[in-house]
Order: sequence, then structure tokens, then C-alpha cells
Amino acid sequence: DWDSGNIIEEQVARIRETVGSDKVLCALSGGVDSAVAAALVHEAVGDQLVCVFVDHGLLRQDERRQVEEDYVASTGVRLVTVDARERFMQALAGVTDPEQKRKIIGREFIRVFEQAERDLAAEAASEGEPIRWLVQGTLYPDVVESGGGTGTANIKSHHNVGGLPDDLQFQLIEPLRALFKDEVRAIGRELGLPEAIVGRQPFPGPGLGIRIIGEVTEERLDTLRRADAIARAELTAAGLDDEIWQCPVVLLADVRSVGVQGDGRTYGHPIVLRPVSSEDAMTADWTRLPYDVLARISNRITNEVAEVNRVVLDVTSKPPGTIEWE
Ligand code: XMP
Repeated sequence: DWDSGNIIEEQVARIRETVGSDKVLCALSGGVDSAVAAALVHEAVGDQLVCVFVDHGLLRQDERRQVEEDYVASTGVRLVTVDARERFMQALAGVTDPEQKRKIIGREFIRVFEQAERDLAAEAASEGEPIRWLVQGTLYPDVVESGGGTGTANIKSHHNVGGLPDDLQFQLIEPLRALFKDEVRAIGRELGLPEAIVGRQPFPGPGLGIRIIGEVTEERLDTLRRADAIARAELTAAGLDDEIWQCPVVLLADVRSVGVQGDGRTYGHPIVLRPVSSEDAMTADWTRLPYDVLARISNRITNEVAEVNRVVLDVTSKPPGTIEWE
């Protein structure tokens, strides 16, 4: 009989036994898996755990604050945030190819994480305690998928940002390896994690970097972030979070169209809404959102985000479309 309380007790005992008095490291992504994995390990070994959160500047509105304030307040984990926004922006300058963006973001992430790890290791070693363990939020479907090899998984290079640099000398702790997403969410709720994190829909590691079609710049990120926040707020307010697997909001940064606002002509960018329903992201259908919800999102985005003068709806299933536009 599945019971989140039992699983927590079992895992806590196991983690304690495994790591003893060693130091443990975890990369938080802001997503549910790493958040729950870290919270379980913290429950087991307290301040032997240090979490690293890399702000690559491609996060959505409020995500950094949710991790730094709400998550830390509810768990008590020791968190080191690395502000790497400038570094990522420089590395992405002039880059428009989706796979190139993924490679750069993945590479920079590993470099930043390794530097943070070296700093922490130096600190820990001076206390006579090397860092031996790395927490990973691997779920059961991840285990199956990496063993199986699936057709669509290779279309995009899905290195999970927040994933493991291959050559780091760690042993892995993967407390969620036997669990499915809904079970992980139940455990997260039982551990008292913020709903904004536990209920979060899938969000790609490369973040908003692959939701700007064209070059990634600060200004474009700011535009997309505001539009995305409006769409998410309205979908949540309409009670649609459970119906939607995820809803990428995409900025067509190199497209402009003519519009009219007040007495003036506008020449702004389109925003694409891509709400999908899915079981596992391998296939998906576009979600039939109520027209009044679409209307509210469209009105608010075009009124509140000056750079955007048009909102369009993606009505393509997967296949042939992928969920993300890049
Ligand atoms: P696609 O666009 O291939 O997306 O239909 C399937 C699922 O994977 C997510 N996705 C990514 N996740 N790194 C990730 O960690 C990536 O590069 C990446 N690309 C897509 C996407 O959000 C969807 O849930």
C-alpha cells in the first residue's frame, strides 16, 4: 500500500545509513524533482547537505525567489545561489540555432556548477570533510527511458540542465528512483514544500533560452517573462493547471507585425501560447482552452506588455510538432 509517510521514513533511514557523516551536494533547478530529492536528504542528514542553485538568467518570473526564500524557509536547507546571468548572456550572444543554444547552456551550467563545487569542497576539506555524495532527482520514468532508448528523445539533445557533470568524483544518491511524478509531488507536499514548486509543470533545463525564437537578449527575456507570468497566472486562476501538461509561452523575437493601439500604429512581436495535454511528453495534443480564458490572456498580454501586439495559439499536436518550439 503506497503511503508517502512510509516512503519518507524508509528513504530517510536509508540515506542516513548510506552517507554516514559525509557531506552531500545537490543542484537545485527550481523544479519539483530536485526540490523533493534535496528535501528528503535534508530530512535525513540536515546541514551535511549543501544545495547549489545556478541562476542562468533564463528562469521565469519569481522562480529564483521561490527557491531562495520559500523553499529555504520550508526546508531549512543550506543554499548557495550562483548568479551567472551575465556569463550565460555573453555565451549566448549572437546564437540563434536551438541545438547550439542547448549545448552552450549545458556547457556553461556544468562549468558554473563545477566552480561552485570546488569552492564548497575547499571549504569542506578545511573542515576535514570532503564532499562525497551528489543528490539527483532521477525518477522511475527517467531510469526506464535511459535504459530503453526512445524514438523522439533523440530529436533534441535533452541534457537536463541540473544534470551531472560526467567527470565529477561523486557517488550518487537518488532517493526518487522508484517513484512516479505524482508520488514525488505527494512526498513534497507531505514534507511541506511550497505549492508553487511541488505543483510546477515541466520546464526545460535551458529555460526561456529555447522559448525565444532568435537571439536571446536581456530585453527579450524581460518581455517573455512578463507575458509568461500573465499566461500562467490566468491559467491557474481558471483552475486549468491539472488539465494542462505544460504551456510554453514563446516569443517570436524576429517577427514583427503591424497593429493599432489608441491613435497609434504599433509594430510589435507575436507571443505564441502552446498549451498541451499529455501523459509523458512523448506525444501530446493541444489543449482546448476555454475561449474566455484565451481572451483574458490575450487582452492582458497585449495591454500590459508593450513589446507584444499579437497573441496566437498553437493548435498542432505532437507529432508532428514538438512541445517546445526549439
Ligand atoms: P519536446 O519539445 O521535445 O519536449 O516535445 C518534450 C519535453 O521535454 C522538455 N524539453 C526539455 N527538457 N532540456 C530539458 O530538460 C531540454 O533541452 C528540453 N527540451 C524540451 C519539454 O519542455 C517537454 O516537457
